[in-house]
Amino acid sequence: MSEQTIDPLTPILSETWDADRSWTLDAYVAQGGWQGLAKALAQPPADVVQVVKDSGLRGRGGAGFPTGMKWGFLPAPDGGPRYLVVNADESEPGTCKDIPLMLASPQLLIEGVAITSYAIGCDHAFIYVRGEVLHVYRRLLRAVEEAYAAGYLGKNIQGSGFDLDVTVHAGAGAYICGEETALLDSLEGLRGQPRLKPPFPAVAGLYARPTVVNNVESVASVPAIVNHGSDWFTSMGTERSAGHGLFSLSGHVVRPGQYEAPLGITLRELLDMAGGVRGGNRLKFWTPGGSSTPLFTDAHLDTPLDYESVAAAGSMLGTRALQIFDETTCVVRAVSRWMDFYAHESCGKCTPCREGTYWLKQILRRIETGAGTEGDLDVLLDTCDNILGRAFCALGDGATSPVTSSIALFRDEFEAHITGRGCPFDPSAAALFDYTPRRAPQALTAGAH
Ligand SMILES: Cc1cc2nc3c(=O)[nH]c(=O)nc-3n(C[C@H](O)[C@H](O)[C@H](O)COP(=O)(O)O)c2cc1C
Ligand code: SF4
Repeated sequence: MSEQTIDPLTPILSETWDADRSWTLDAYVAQGGWQGLAKALAQPPADVVQVVKDSGLRGRGGAGFPTGMKWGFLPAPDGGPRYLVVNADESEPGTCKDIPLMLASPQLLIEGVAITSYAIGCDHAFIYVRGEVLHVYRRLLRAVEEAYAAGYLGKNIQGSGFDLDVTVHAGAGAYICGEETALLDSLEGLRGQPRLKPPFPAVAGLYARPTVVNNVESVASVPAIVNHGSDWFTSMGTERSAGHGLFSLSGHVVRPGQYEAPLGITLRELLDMAGGVRGGNRLKFWTPGGSSTPLFTDAHLDTPLDYESVAAAGSMLGTRALQIFDETTCVVRAVSRWMDFYAHESCGKCTPCREGTYWLKQILRRIETGAGTEGDLDVLLDTCDNILGRAFCALGDGATSPVTSSIALFRDEFEAHITGRGCPFDPSAAALFDYTPRRAPQALTAGAH
């Protein structure tokens, strides 16, 4: 077979991001925007569902569930409302793709919302945005206003007879409200906590009506699929992980940012484009899909970043949030910070997660600060064992991933913190990542500060 040189980047979602005032409707239309909707409206809704099914698009919100199949789960129309809810809550540590997409190209998302709504027979869609990102909320509000004014939303869109209203809703800023059923409760004005499933949202979602919940990037991928066809989409990526996606490189990398590429690209290839690890340092560990996915090391640089290959290597593709940590990083400290997040964000509904994340945080903190005891690693692993598979939703399971994977990969480093009564890292190296060795908690409570 002859060797081909292929540019591994596939800017599709991000294609218009560097256009002048890319977020305006005019700029979007000038770049060919809103043509997908015209194409969709010219065919029966079922054909639009079919093209998305055939494309093999899998949900970009983390779990990778096939998008067309999810749309197909809605029961037959009964004359009552059915809803599309776009999950724009993006709160997983390291995940930072939907926010830049909505800032740079909100019309792309809104076009995706219009096509998806048409396909599933919905006349009122919601975009649930993470509360802290006020700038994104404002941009979406303005973009929706522009789309109404241009006749892409509202009554009788483009003379097709199809009506659609879009509501942009700002949450109050809670990681759990990204879990789809907690999101629906929050959108209904209730406290954001996960619902028991079944019934699944497809059957009884928003206001107990059939509902599709899709991630921003999933919905934004739809216009190009409708425009170019399913074969075009499956020509990228791998057989079971088709298409392109945003890979978000952050942390100790020379040029952090969004790299849009076919699924199946490797971290080695992405790092080459991103200028490598900062300072020429060695890669120590990384997350393939955000903090809830088990850690990888430099041994996984060539693992294809598609759902199957990452799972076969012991982790999850998740949201393609590639957080890079170089050799100067204390893994105990990194995991301890993540656990602060999970303990804070646990919604408290179920005991394994509410109590478990609290204790994981306490134990990690004491190991980090030099007050760890000999049995602590066993207690950490036992606590994880009591959360994994026993928690009410995936937040609890995700919280165990950094703990169990880091102990499996760096047990020596955890033990060195315990036997050495603190972080064994050279303080000059630690300064590179602003690491201040902590005093033992006893010293703090003894009024040493
Ligand atoms: C704790 C938690 C947080 C989540 N946060 C998000 C999020 O911010 N955005 C998102 O799209 N999906 C998030 N999900 C996944 C959603 O529950 C759901 O699977 C997703 O929105 C489905 O969209 P997709 O099929 O297009 O990927 C989260 C799940 C959990 C358990
Ligand atoms: S696993 Fe955690 S976040 Fe999920 S329901 Fe239980 S307490 Fe809430």
